[in-house]
This record gives sequence, structure tokens and C-alpha cells, in this order.
Amino acid sequence: MKKMTEKNLGDAFAGESQAHMRYQIFADVAEKAGYKNVARLFRAISYAEQVHATNHYRALGLIKDTENNLQVAIDGETYEVEEMYPVFNEVAKFQGEKSAEQSTHYALEAEKIHAELYKKAKESVKGKKDIDIGDIYICTVCGYTAVGKAPEKCPVCGAPASAFKKF
Ligand SMILES: [Fe+2]
Ligand SMILES: [Fe+2]
Repeated sequence: MKKMTEKNLGDAFAGESQAHMRYQIFADVAEKAGYKNVARLFRAISYAEQVHATNHYRALGLIKDTENNLQVAIDGETYEVEEMYPVFNEVAKFQGEKSAEQSTHYALEAEKIHAELYKKAKESVKGKKDIDIGDIYICTVCGYTAVGKAPEKCPVCGAPASAFKKF
């Protein structure tokens, strides 16, 4: 692919990805405020942005088989755990930015678990087998990730088991 087009598609993928996430967040806010149809509009358009992002990603030739996709996921999570979040967290501390210190700490703790789960999944898929995994629980406050059952109390943020969302 020509360099300029590749760069443009990368930028478009990043922009659509952010819009997708932003609209999900805005939908939750609208829902809580009682604007059911505004929430639905945000969710619908969020999905359209996901379609756009997927098309750009495909055009870039970046959609591979699941084993390769898992490696991309492992690399991303590992970078976040080993370099990005520890440094972002230190900068937030240094600058006295309490909210950023908390949000980067929450993310760092969850990404450690994500990297390990993806490694396990990759081992299974390498042998052409789906991963043997039970229910997955995500803390709606901090994103802590647990497998099997939700902990009584989130080990990262202290939220109760009822704050976990099951997948
Ligand atoms: Fe993650
Ligand atoms: Fe939590």
C-alpha cells in the first residue's frame, strides 16, 4: 500500500475507534440521565463507527487468524504492563494528578491479567483448541478481570461482587 494512504487509514482507524468508545461512554451517561432514545442513538452510531474502523483495519491488511490476533493482543497488553502504564502512573504521581494516578493504576493491574489470559488462549488455539475458560467477570469500577467467579471484594478497588459484570 502507498505510504500516504496507509498513514491516512491508520489515522482514520484511530479516530473511528475513539468515536466508537466515546459514544459508548456517552450512551451510558444519557441512559443514567433517563434519555433512553439518545442512549440508543449513541449506541447505534457507535456501532457504525466500529464498522468503519473494521473496514479501515481490514483495508490495512491487519486482520489475521486468531492465533496471530492473539499475539498482537499479547504484545499490546505486555507493552502497557511493562512500559506504558508504569511510566504514565509515575508521571501522574510526580505531577500530583490523583485521578490519572488512579486510572492508570487500575488499568495496569487489569492488563497484567489480560496478557496472561491471552497467552493461555494462544496456547490453546495453537493446538486448534478453544480455550477452556469459565465465566469471566469484569469489575465495572476498575476493570479488574477474574475467571470462574467474581471475588467477594475487588482486590484492586474494593468494589463488591455485585459490581462485577459477567461474560
Ligand atoms: Fe487490557
Ligand atoms: Fe475493581
